[in-house]
Amino acid sequence: MKLLVINGPNLNLLGIREPHIYGHETYADLEALVRDTCAAEGINVTLLQSNHEGAIIDAIGAAHGVQDAIVINPAAYTHTSIAILDALKAVALPAVEVHISDLKSREPFRQHSYTGMACRKTISGQGLDGYRQAILWLKDDQRKEA
Ligand code: DQA
Repeated sequence: MKLLVINGPNLNLLGIREPHIYGHETYADLEALVRDTCAAEGINVTLLQSNHEGAIIDAIGAAHGVQDAIVINPAAYTHTSIAILDALKAVALPAVEVHISDLKSREPFRQHSYTGMACRKTISGQGLDGYRQAILWLKDDQRKEA
């Protein structure tokens, strides 16, 4: 299985960014967790972190015919980006949306997800472990469809 893991704006600032909400682990810790999980599961992973909506859209488009699945934390674009939603719908790859924090317990403007409308599942409030859960879910999903 080939997997693309996308992290959106400000997730490069994990560790210093509102640690009472996002914890003390850094983006490097997140990358290590994703790489270790994928290595253990025999998954070929590509990681992208970008603060730019267009770069995220380009990466989703380029995944067509190359990747088997996507894990995405669109960060603030979750709540604003119809363009990322359209990109996910266009390539139609199985996708899981991850949020480190628990969106349900946060501000009203975080209660709606455009991007989640194109994802098979959303994992929220599990910290970095949400990425591990998303990877395992997609692997199992692919096994069921094989
Ligand atoms: C986030 C939640 C979003 O609302 C926020 O804009 C982020 C991070 C999360 O992982 O909890 O940047 O996606």
